Amino acid sequence: MRPMMEMLEKASRRLSLHMPGAQGQAPFGSVDPYLLDTTELGVTDDLYAPGNGIAKAQELIARSAGAQSTLMLSGGSTAGMHAMLLYAAARGDKVILPRNVHISALHLCAVAGIQPVFVPVDHTTSGRPYSTAENYYSVMEQHPDARAVLVLNPDYYGTLGPVRRVAERAHAMGMLVLCDEAHGAVFNWYRREYGALSQGADLVVQSAHKTLPALTASAWLHASAKVDAGLLRKRLRMVQTSSPSFVIMLSLDDAREWMDLNGAQAGAELETALAAFRKEAAALGYADGQQALPQSVAADPLRLVLDAPQGGFRLAEQLEEAGIDIELCDCAGIGCILSLADGPRRLDRLLEALRTIPAVSGSREELPKPPPIPPRKMPLHEAAFAPAEPVAIRDAAGRISAGQVGLYPPGVAALAAGEEITPGIVAWLSAMPPQRLFGLDEDGRLTCVREGV
Ligand SMILES: Cc1ncc(COP(=O)(O)O)c(C=O)c1O
Repeated sequence: MRPMMEMLEKASRRLSLHMPGAQGQAPFGSVDPYLLDTTELGVTDDLYAPGNGIAKAQELIARSAGAQSTLMLSGGSTAGMHAMLLYAAARGDKVILPRNVHISALHLCAVAGIQPVFVPVDHTTSGRPYSTAENYYSVMEQHPDARAVLVLNPDYYGTLGPVRRVAERAHAMGMLVLCDEAHGAVFNWYRREYGALSQGADLVVQSAHKTLPALTASAWLHASAKVDAGLLRKRLRMVQTSSPSFVIMLSLDDAREWMDLNGAQAGAELETALAAFRKEAAALGYADGQQALPQSVAADPLRLVLDAPQGGFRLAEQLEEAGIDIELCDCAGIGCILSLADGPRRLDRLLEALRTIPAVSGSREELPKPPPIPPRKMPLHEAAFAPAEPVAIRDAAGRISAGQVGLYPPGVAALAAGEEITPGIVAWLSAMPPQRLFGLDEDGRLTCVREGV
């Protein structure tokens, strides 16, 4: 029996509009991973002490990205987030994070004893989060002792972060600037001005596998001249496997070479195809979801976000029935990742499907916005490992959360470990369909710190 093979073969026959960005196509033709998979040998190289092919590949990607140095990652952006946070802060230090930060940052803070300080996010009329420099500034003023500030650029929806403005202020205050660019690897080659390195970030993590022709879990951690590259490599070694995958590193280097050769043109072609697609989709009743952003907030033109009168969850089901799998859905609509190699062709197939799916309003859910960030009652790292017990949501007001809880997608914590479960949080969680929430136990209960233990 080969249940994995059966499952994957079935999935590969469907139309993918989700990550991995390779979407079934190797940039230079298929290779046999078993033939090429290897380890640290005299003739190969060592990611943690590079001197041969890995060193060369890292130099090439650093050049393409405009970085002083780059580490290849075989543990996704998660490994890069962990390494850069460990580089920037030590136990007890503060780091400033946007509230819609990826969960990997909170996990690292819990394990390393770093104190997160959150920047609230604003929401569009469709309920999607975005960050403003002003929100960062007020948190930075309240916490001038923070060691670093992290910006998300872009987020899941392609919404860009206020990197340049935050970086200028943070540097003036002596803070390091970290960027989660997991969704923005393409900016190394296309729309470079949107990239965080070109806007002054010190450390930037990018998932190659989300948007480029690269294998799942492939990512890069770029550093500016200000960063001690040797120390950063040591930090990475503390959080990533001691046996990084050579096949994943090959895929990173091939994605880099393909993008060096084709990225600028492929990006421009995809942007043109998407602009035409958005017009046709709007005529069918599916509006461009990025239009709901305020004028001052830009978006990655290569990320497709469509609003659907029937709601994103319903449209995702309808597309699934039509053999099309998308990256994410929410109350308002859907998000898709398009392959740089053949995105325009995939858009034709999506449009064909949308023509047969009427954009009829009716079933769209409207969920209330998350309440304000609750007050912190205990350090995150203490709450995350404290004795804990399950508590029904309706009985949890006044208790301290032992974990992260929120809506998935987009996977943003409405409640983080150590925060008070306010009556507002109880009301909001109670109004959510339980299957849309992450962080609850199998009986739909919150995990709360057992106080007085
Ligand atoms: C914004 C953001 N940052 C970081 C990550 C972690 O990336 P990876 O899956 O490459 O570990 C994700 C994954 O979804 C993400 O969406």
